[in-house]
Amino acid sequence: MIRISNVSKSYGGNVKAVDSLDLHVMPGEIFGFLGPNGAGKTTTIKIMVGILEPDQGSVEVAGINLVDKSIDAKKQIGYVPDEAQLWEKLTGAEYLDFVCDVYGVPGEKREPEAVRLLETFEMLQAVSDPIGSYSRGMRQKIAVIGSLMHHPSVWVLDEPMVGLDPRSSFLLKELMRSHVDQGGAVFFSTHVLEVAERLCDRVGIIHKGKLIAVNTVEEMKNLFAQEGDKSLEEIFLEVTGARLPQEQLASLAK
Ligand SMILES: Nc1ncnc2c1ncn2[C@@H]1O[C@H](COP(=O)(O)OP(=O)(O)O)[C@@H](O)[C@H]1O
Ligand SMILES: [Mg+2]
Repeated sequence: MIRISNVSKSYGGNVKAVDSLDLHVMPGEIFGFLGPNGAGKTTTIKIMVGILEPDQGSVEVAGINLVDKSIDAKKQIGYVPDEAQLWEKLTGAEYLDFVCDVYGVPGEKREPEAVRLLETFEMLQAVSDPIGSYSRGMRQKIAVIGSLMHHPSVWVLDEPMVGLDPRSSFLLKELMRSHVDQGGAVFFSTHVLEVAERLCDRVGIIHKGKLIAVNTVEEMKNLFAQEGDKSLEEIFLEVTGARLPQEQLASLAK
């Protein structure tokens, strides 16, 4: 449902923010994209949703090439950026209306969908207030709601749990599951490994622009199981080289 083929991107200079990335996400699948800060997660996501052009490689969303048929491909995508640009003076309702205008959601379909999602996230009261008055979590919630108004098949979220209270974060995870249960695909980045461990059907670990491991959480654990049961966090630290050698750890503990 999402297919990234041999994608590379650098921001001037020689360092590749994303380096020869190949990745696919199937319908019915929640895919977690893990990596330390600066690993290339946001760059990959911006390429995947058509905001950035890759230096090489291609992206297909629901079988549609993002360069050849960019409008058709983008209609398939619901995107929640890491920091949503929202218009402070618009109310939540006006913002959702604007998003529906952009995606061509017919008038009669807007309200039932908006009410359903606003109720889910306890935002029905706040929707008539200007976004400028919203807390960080409320902004994140209205961005999440806006991203679903056009019923995208592919839902892409960049660090979506950041700023959400535990209840909203739980509700978001439920929505992700129900999205894939209805045949969609979810791709999200996170550095919160416990979330990925419990939620994802598969995870990919990106480090310095390269995808260094892709697998189900279970398989990933099996592969690294020689030294006993490891959490995803331990595997992550190991493969991204962030883990200190044993002797160094021992000396630090003294
Ligand atoms: N607009 C930009 N201009 C120059 N370098 C950038 C820009 N955006 C990101 N980078 C660099 O690209 C690399 C990957 O960044 P990013 O994709 O944001 O990683 P992540 O989301 O995993 O933290 C980092 O080294 C970052 O400093
Ligand atoms: Mg990022």
